[in-house]
Order: sequence, then structure tokens, then C-alpha cells
Amino acid sequence: MTTNHRIALIPGDGIGAEVVPTAQQVLDVLGRRHGFSLSYTSYDWSCERYLQEGAMMPADGIDQLRDKDAILLGAVGYPGVPDHVSLWGLLIPIRRSFRQYVNLRPIRVFEGIDSPVRGARPGAVDMVVVRENAEGEYSEIGGRLNQGTSEELAVQESVFTRAGVTRIADYAFSLAARRRGKLTSATKSNGIIHTMPFWDELIAERAAEHPGVTWDQEHIDALAAKFVLAPARFDVVVASNLFGDILSDLAAAVAGSIGIAPAANLNPERDFPSMFEPVHGSAPDIAGQGIANPLGAIWSAAMMLDHLGHPAAARDITDAIASVLAKTDTRTPDLGGTATTAEFTDKLIELL
Ligand code: NAI
Ligand code: MG
Repeated sequence: MTTNHRIALIPGDGIGAEVVPTAQQVLDVLGRRHGFSLSYTSYDWSCERYLQEGAMMPADGIDQLRDKDAILLGAVGYPGVPDHVSLWGLLIPIRRSFRQYVNLRPIRVFEGIDSPVRGARPGAVDMVVVRENAEGEYSEIGGRLNQGTSEELAVQESVFTRAGVTRIADYAFSLAARRRGKLTSATKSNGIIHTMPFWDELIAERAAEHPGVTWDQEHIDALAAKFVLAPARFDVVVASNLFGDILSDLAAAVAGSIGIAPAANLNPERDFPSMFEPVHGSAPDIAGQGIANPLGAIWSAAMMLDHLGHPAAARDITDAIASVLAKTDTRTPDLGGTATTAEFTDKLIELL
């Protein structure tokens, strides 16, 4: 009997809806080859839905996803809808309701890609940013007072818990142990004097439990500079929600295009579905033209297969991504080519 996986598809807005079907095409090829099947349920949850119905998703949206094995999301965001609506109306409720406290963002400079960074040689840059995904700086605690007056003020609290930092640290150290055995912790304990020293203490505490991993910590400002100056020196980088968000976009740019970068929002205990999505947004500037780079979505689908227990199928996808970039000059315009999304996807499937 072949295993069937129930996948929720949320294409979302803009190019999200253009790249999710390419990932689906690739997934189906691999299912046939590796002996599993995927059944999809599609949801139209998006900013467009918000404009028509006043909500990004229905009131029972989270419950509709609960019995799925994984969620594949494109991107949300639409001109005219404030970005905090799309984020807090869909992505953050999914991440938090399903305790997806790990946001995993691998970055590689592939052969055949011109990094804007001179020192980022293909093959040499291969790192993973492990971003804390459920607390930290992205918190609803705070408020605004005296709006519209000269005494107007805004307060926003960061939340760091022992449990939250410990579990992300353990995840990152274990991942480093399975990779090259190096971990860097992003901090800012010189300027942020309560939460970041707490973060540092807990990372050091967990490091003691993972003696096989060499680790260090860097202040976020210096670390950002080193991502540009010496990206090859990093293996696993663990960071708080905000720092991880910024660092992973920076690392994606170092790798050549934000259109390639994938992300996984993981519930490592598997009590709930995990969610896989490209790092990029809905790209309204190129939406509707059929020229979006599909690799971020396709690589995210590979991470999904890995999570679902098909590491060989996942490797087939990352190998095909490497081949299409190294061995052909088919590329979408963001990588300097002229191919459409469909042509790029077809070429990749040919090489699969
Ligand atoms: P963006 O990632 O959508 O676009 C940034 C730039 O990169 C644009 O010039 C775009 O054309 C290009 N780009 C992005 N993905 C590409 C791809 N696959 N192929 C080729 N070029 C690509 O980020 P931006 O412009 O800041 O945000 C646009 C909207 O997307 C906003 O509403 C934002 O809130 C939303 N967004 C949603 C995310 C999500 O759903 N997870 C993540 C980031 C942004
Ligand atoms: Mg981001």
C-alpha cells in the first residue's frame, strides 16, 4: 500500500499562486517515483479574500488544517491591505496554533549562480538559519496611548521564555551535530540588557549538553557584516524571531536571489501539521507576468518531503535544482535569464 499524505495548499496572493502549482507538479513526479501519493486540499485564503469577506481565513480556518499532514503556502500580501493584516490574520495564527516554533531556512550558493558577494563561492556557502518562530520580538504585548497628541507613545514588549529559548537552542544544536558541527548564536546582549543576556545564558546552558558542537556568539550587527564578508564560515546560525527574519533574507540575497530561498515552519513533535513556504513574498511588481522564480517554492516542497519521511525524494529535488542551475542556462529574469516560470519548471522536471 502506498502512503498517502494529506496536503493543504494555500497559494495566497500574487506570485504565491504562480509558484505553488509548480511545486505540486514536482511533488507528483516524485510521488510516482518513490511510491507515495499526495492528496491536496486547496484554500483560497489570501488578501483578496480579506478584501471581499473581511478576513484572511474563515473563523474555523485553523481547525480545517488540523488533520492535514503538512501545509504548503505560497505568499500573502496585496497592495492596499496592510502587511500586518496578512501576517497576523493568517501566517502567525498558523505558526502559533500549530506550535511551529522552528523556522528553518537553508541557504546555499549554487554552481551557476552569480552571488552579488564576491567571496560567496558556489559550493562553499551552505548554512541554515534556525529562527525562533513563536515568541521573541513578534508579540502582541504592548499598546499605543494618546494617539494623535504630542504625548503619543507606543510600547512593544519582547517575550523570551526559558522553555522557548531552550527548545530552539536544542533543535539548532542537534541540527549542527548532524551537519558540520558548528553553531553561531545571534545576540545583542550589549544593547538589549534583559532578554538578550537571558538568551545568551540559555544558549550556553544548552551548549553544555551538546559537547560535539563548536559554538560561538556574535552581536547581530557584526554578524550581519560577516554574512556579507565571510558567508562560508557559517554552518548553523540560531537567532530570535526578528534577528532570524532579517538574517535569513540577507543570507538569501547573498545566495543570489530571494526567489530561491525556502523555509519550513516546523512543529518538531509532530503534534500538528508543519508549514512550508518560500521566503519571498507575493512580489506585486512581477505578479501576473508568469516570470516568478519557482525554485523557492520547489525547494520548500523538498523540505516538506523530508519532513514527511521521504529524504531520498527531497534530495532528488535539491539535486535537480543544483543541476538546472549548473548545467543549463535556463533561468527566470531574477537570475538574469529570460525563461518563464513554466519553462524553468519544465527544465527542472526534465532533469529530475
Ligand atoms: P517580495 O519578496 O514579495 O519581493 C521583493 C523583490 O524580490 C521584488 O522585487 C520581487 O519581484 C522579487 N522577488 C521575490 N520573489 C521572487 C521570485 N520568486 N522570483 C522573482 N523575483 C522575486 O517582498 P516585498 O516586496 O517586500 O513584499 C511584497 C508583499 O509580500 C508584501 O505585501 C509583503 O507583506 C508580502 N510578503 C509576504 C511574505 C509571506 O507570505 N511569507 C513574506 C514577505 C513578504
Ligand atoms: Mg522576512
